[in-house]
Amino acid sequence: MTESNRIALVTGASRGLGLVIARVLGARGYRLVIGGRDPDALAAAAGELLLQTPAVVPVAGDITDVQVRATMIDAARRLGGLDVLVNNASQLGARGPLMQFDVPRFGQLFPVNVGAPMVLTQMAVPLLAERRGLIVNITSDAATAAYPGWGPYGATKAALELLTRTLASELRDEGVSAVLVDPGDMRTRMHQEAFPGEDISDRPLPEVTVPFWNWLFAQDPEAVRGERFAAQHEDARWLHQV
Ligand SMILES: NC(=O)c1ccc[n+]([C@@H]2O[C@H](COP(=O)([O-])OP(=O)(O)OC[C@H]3O[C@@H](n4cnc5c(N)ncnc54)[C@H](OP(=O)(O)O)[C@@H]3O)[C@@H](O)[C@H]2O)c1
Repeated sequence: MTESNRIALVTGASRGLGLVIARVLGARGYRLVIGGRDPDALAAAAGELLLQTPAVVPVAGDITDVQVRATMIDAARRLGGLDVLVNNASQLGARGPLMQFDVPRFGQLFPVNVGAPMVLTQMAVPLLAERRGLIVNITSDAATAAYPGWGPYGATKAALELLTRTLASELRDEGVSAVLVDPGDMRTRMHQEAFPGEDISDRPLPEVTVPFWNWLFAQDPEAVRGERFAAQHEDARWLHQV
């Protein structure tokens, strides 16, 4: 299936899940704007994605930087607009018992995992509204599972979930949809950082989520408004329809 007149912006697309999502979109013909802090890794990802799709604009920099976000939105506008925004970039941050966290430590993760995706979304909505677009916010089971030592990361994802559901309602009149996707455990750099020194080879690579993404990007965004999907779990809403 080709969706060659479509454009997507994926944050954190230099590796891991974000690169897999960008590959799926590129293979479907989407032109892409991709982000990540490491310019070399991002350039390598862009070079690979250009084998699949005619336009890939890498925007290197920290997603908390207003200029980086503005450059991403401008790049999408120059490509012709925006159909899909994937807020994937995220950090695990320092872990440990909540009794040891002070205010600055609590504050480190929220700008990356909550503030930046929400403000990028604000900037993207005028473009998304022109194309009845879709916002995809990547969450985690840590948003609900209350894992000891994971409190601040889980709190950022819980906040992102509430804000995404709220957005899904608030943007109805503008025709922009928003969904949450919990990708499940995956063998990525973030997951290895979560379990330092441990063998994580039993976790699947992020490519395990490819069937889900192909299903999601074939849906009418309005039909999935406000939903929360688990990309690796059996789910009657999508798995048996692939
Ligand atoms: N892996 C899992 O088991 C798992 C489970 C549940 C949910 N998730 C979620 O899935 C998403 C992807 O995780 P992943 O495992 O693929 O992580 P990853 O391998 O660490 O990749 C993270 C991506 O985000 C970019 N990034 C990180 N901080 C950034 C910042 N401040 N500004 C701009 N880009 C930034 C990274 O590039 P740079 O470092 O170069 O910036 C990289 O491209 C995250 O939202 C994560 O919370 C992962």
